[in-house]
Amino acid sequence: MTDTNADRPSRPLPIVIVGHVDHGKSTLIGRLLHETGSLPDGKLDELHTQAQRRGVPFEWSFVMDALQIERDQGITVDTTRIWFATRKRGYVIIDAPGHSEFLKNMVTGAAGADAAMLVVDAQQGVSEQTRRHAYLLALLGVSQITVAINKMDLVGYDKDRFEAVEADVRAYLANIGLAPLSVIPIAARAGENITDAPSADEVGRLDWWRGPSLTGALDAFEERPAVLDQPLRLPVQDVYRREDERVIVGRIESGRLRVGDTISLAPGGRQAKIAGFRAWNGSTPVAAVAGQSVAVTFDEEVFVERGHIISTPADAPGEANRIRVRLFWLDDKPLMVGDRLSLRLATAAHTVTVEAIERVIDVQDLGSIPADHVERNAVAEVVLRGRSRIVHDSFDRLAGTGRAVLARDHRLVGGCIIKEAVDIAALRNLTTVEQTVTVAERALANGHRGGVLWLTGLSGSGKSTLAMALQRCLFERGRQVYVLDGDNVRQGLNRDLGFGPDARAENIRRIAEVARLFADAGFLVISAFISPYREDRDNARAIIGEEFREIYVRADLALCEQRDPKGLYVRARAGEIAEFTGISAPYEEPASPDLVVDTGTHSVDSALQVLLNGVDSDFTDAIPAGAAVG
Ligand code: ADX
Repeated sequence: MTDTNADRPSRPLPIVIVGHVDHGKSTLIGRLLHETGSLPDGKLDELHTQAQRRGVPFEWSFVMDALQIERDQGITVDTTRIWFATRKRGYVIIDAPGHSEFLKNMVTGAAGADAAMLVVDAQQGVSEQTRRHAYLLALLGVSQITVAINKMDLVGYDKDRFEAVEADVRAYLANIGLAPLSVIPIAARAGENITDAPSADEVGRLDWWRGPSLTGALDAFEERPAVLDQPLRLPVQDVYRREDERVIVGRIESGRLRVGDTISLAPGGRQAKIAGFRAWNGSTPVAAVAGQSVAVTFDEEVFVERGHIISTPADAPGEANRIRVRLFWLDDKPLMVGDRLSLRLATAAHTVTVEAIERVIDVQDLGSIPADHVERNAVAEVVLRGRSRIVHDSFDRLAGTGRAVLARDHRLVGGCIIKEAVDIAALRNLTTVEQTVTVAERALANGHRGGVLWLTGLSGSGKSTLAMALQRCLFERGRQVYVLDGDNVRQGLNRDLGFGPDARAENIRRIAEVARLFADAGFLVISAFISPYREDRDNARAIIGEEFREIYVRADLALCEQRDPKGLYVRARAGEIAEFTGISAPYEEPASPDLVVDTGTHSVDSALQVLLNGVDSDFTDAIPAGAAVG
């Protein structure tokens, strides 16, 4: 970490080089490295000697091959980038060996490229792959493009041929909203028009050309508008406990952050102040900017975990269950409505379902076709529904948190940019009707706020027992209180639901919505559901909001099994109950619950005390004393 004084570090300009596999990318890169003097001393001689020894003519693509071998052997430190410099500045080529690698690099922003070079074979002209790559550039928002019409030597440096291919490329690019900064003729193998210096091999063959050389075209690119001045986005990578403090780490995608700043956490919008930065070595900074990895602490214990996004309260990212995306599909197996995927956006991974395929875009003629599936290499507009709220930005506004990759069974299957949140109310023509009694009035009348005490834990951990005992205590203290219990709700409201992951997600979603209504009506709701999936509990938190407390009722599986109050563990072990939590279905422990009660070490009475101490005052704070009615 460095201080903000170094606000705009001079960094090499990241570029991507794309184009049809056979149109000469490797040769071009090899030449470029050589002509700009960016190859290590002796490298070229070494490659010439090697070729001679093997009895093959030297090829410029050997340079790339050699780099590849070094990578495979782990010799070069940086394994995804190739560096070179012109007289004007440094460049880093974000290597794009294949579609999926390229897409992954681009989409994850591991490689937010500022500019691109599209390579087209002068003989072959614009191919299907040329169009696809160009479309991908447009899709990913790379708007600075230069087109290199390569292999001019193979068409006798013919000006007419160049102009014909140029017209073709320009027409396609214009259709997808891209205007190239330049379209230039080159011959990478012969070294023609690579740099402004006259080339060694075939001097003067492009005499008719008045435009820039390849490096000249690159030097005309502008640095990306600084992400520093954009709204703050700091996706949380991890939360560590260090001695007595919690350290939140991540890389700032955009904007800047200082000690003392009030920040907001999405989803949910909880706020805290940045108490300080932490450094593992060197001096501790007081501020940081986009591109830097930071470790910060908050002034209070708010719930935060990997996948959350830190922003300023005034300009927070969007949160939505449904988003419309434009995606590029890479998998052999077509994408279908109803497919479940993992959407990886910044540091978050969301389980999403494809709710609608709105249109498929034909990359060749750019027409759009209604379709019920998306084939490999196709582009489509799709509505994705998250199990929990997806924190996002629209790509047009903020690239870093506006794009995502899609995975299925841990394999990359596509990439997408986010267009917008899809509002369920608008989709179904709904508006929100205001209540005539406000939440504050109810709190004043009751002497406490409404809220939800969400108990989670294994079957047999003691959730129901504790919930009922707690209800009694709170009732006797004059609280409006009600218990929602799994076994009860599943006989009524949720009797149509089983125990598969989707059914449990829906179970928890409905309970959370019901609990929210109760809380809105002024009640303290105690819910007792296993709620084994973290994502579902997060969703419940998102639905309920600030007055949600996650309480982990902890007991070892062995202990629960020994208690087996309903005799279900015995039956699950005997294989009579499928997907039984703890036996044949997972229980994901809360990462940072608001409260933990251990029923293995506490009696019911003392567990109850822990609960009362831990939560009751939260809901009576700041309510005028004696306000309770009756
Ligand atoms: S949750 O996982 O969806 O939150 P919930 O709390 O509603 O579960 O219901 C759990 C109760 O359903 C258990 O206490 C148990 O009595 C009963 N049950 C029946 N089948 C299962 C199962 N496969 N896994 C867990 N609980 C089950």
